[in-house]
Amino acid sequence: MWDSVITEWASLIFRWLHVVAAMGWIGSSFYFIHLDLSLKPSGDLPEGVAGEAWQVHGGGFYRIVKYLVAPKSMPDELTWFKWEAYTTWLSGFVLMVVVYYLDAELFLVDKSVLDLTPGQAAAFSFCSLALAFLLYEGACRSGLARHERAFAIGGYVFLVALAYAFTHILSGRGAFNQIGAIVGTIMVANVFLTIIPNQKKIVAALLAGQPPDPKWGKAGKLRSVHNNYLTLPVVVLMISNHYPLLFGTRYNWLIVAVVLLLGPVIRHFFNARHAGKKSPWWVWAVAAAGMLAIGWLSAAGPRNAKTSTAPTPPFSEVADIVSSRCSMCHAAEPVWSSITTAPKDILLDDASHIKRNARLIGRNAAWSNAMPPGNVTEMTPDERATIASWLAGGAVAN
Ligand code: HEC
Repeated sequence: MWDSVITEWASLIFRWLHVVAAMGWIGSSFYFIHLDLSLKPSGDLPEGVAGEAWQVHGGGFYRIVKYLVAPKSMPDELTWFKWEAYTTWLSGFVLMVVVYYLDAELFLVDKSVLDLTPGQAAAFSFCSLALAFLLYEGACRSGLARHERAFAIGGYVFLVALAYAFTHILSGRGAFNQIGAIVGTIMVANVFLTIIPNQKKIVAALLAGQPPDPKWGKAGKLRSVHNNYLTLPVVVLMISNHYPLLFGTRYNWLIVAVVLLLGPVIRHFFNARHAGKKSPWWVWAVAAAGMLAIGWLSAAGPRNAKTSTAPTPPFSEVADIVSSRCSMCHAAEPVWSSITTAPKDILLDDASHIKRNARLIGRNAAWSNAMPPGNVTEMTPDERATIASWLAGGAVAN
């Protein structure tokens, strides 16, 4: 019991830290992208300044100027933006270990996808994370990333291929988190291994009175463009665990493919707008079409979905299924060893509870295969179809 309570608290603390650090990171990076794009040249700027921007916030006016490459002499104090990114990764990694590796049986493995042991699944997750990151880093360093369009298409195909592979190895939920973790790792590593070190080289060169090599700035800029376009998809992937219809349905990997397209397209709208260009309003038509596509794909039902042609089953049949597949965890006193209280306070142990939670049961176990987690109680496609047809018939309990 104690280990389960401790991991629960660890999960809360690291999730809190992770979300706050990510807000700080994304917030400041969106802010700087906006600032950078909105800088305008004006008459009376100091030497070496490329542009200025005026902003109003919190009761005061700010005049911000940007020195291209760097000012002539270094200021005594310089604020660096890096710990937001590092803290996001460190807390995220701990959270992944606590939630997905320590509870791999429930959240990383799905026995009906592939019968892995928790250890195998955690090792697979960690190694594929490291490998995917190394491939990206290698591709960037080899110079491939300079062909921007080809690299973007290649990167997209690579991530979709990973989504397909992971959803056929791990649970849907685990797979979504895994892709999110890979994208997040790439983004933080871009800050840690390229953007900040190159910025440091520039500062060092200036202090030594030498002109900094422009390639350092260029390489940093390229990585920061990658990060800009990856930000929105990674946020959806990280909150996807709350949406069983996203991760627990048959075409979940295609849903990832749509999300990976939509995020950059939406970013494009803001990038263009903040640069003072004509706003590409077509973006919202694409975004709406993408969301409709996701909705439509998620309606395909769980993996191996069956459509029942039988008449609406009696409630007793549904109650039998729920009590044999769900109530070992969703009861006042769960009997599943790692579960101490009914998860999310959802009780599925008698007729009135089942009736009250009918739609939740539908989203988690009939129209998706999110529950039972990891399919630990081996619910069959026929049983899901039975519940679906009971719901379609009005979820009558008598
Ligand atoms: C092995 C234990 C276990 C079994 C068996 C199980 N669940 Fe769950 N259930 C959980 C856990 C753990 C969570 C919390 C998941 C999380 O933290 O996101 C949960 C969450 C839920 C939720 C809440 C989802 C939300 O919106 O937050 C619903 C609804 C649910 N389960 C329904 C079911 C149904 C229906 C079944 C049977 C088909 C079932 N569960 C079987 C462990 C179980």
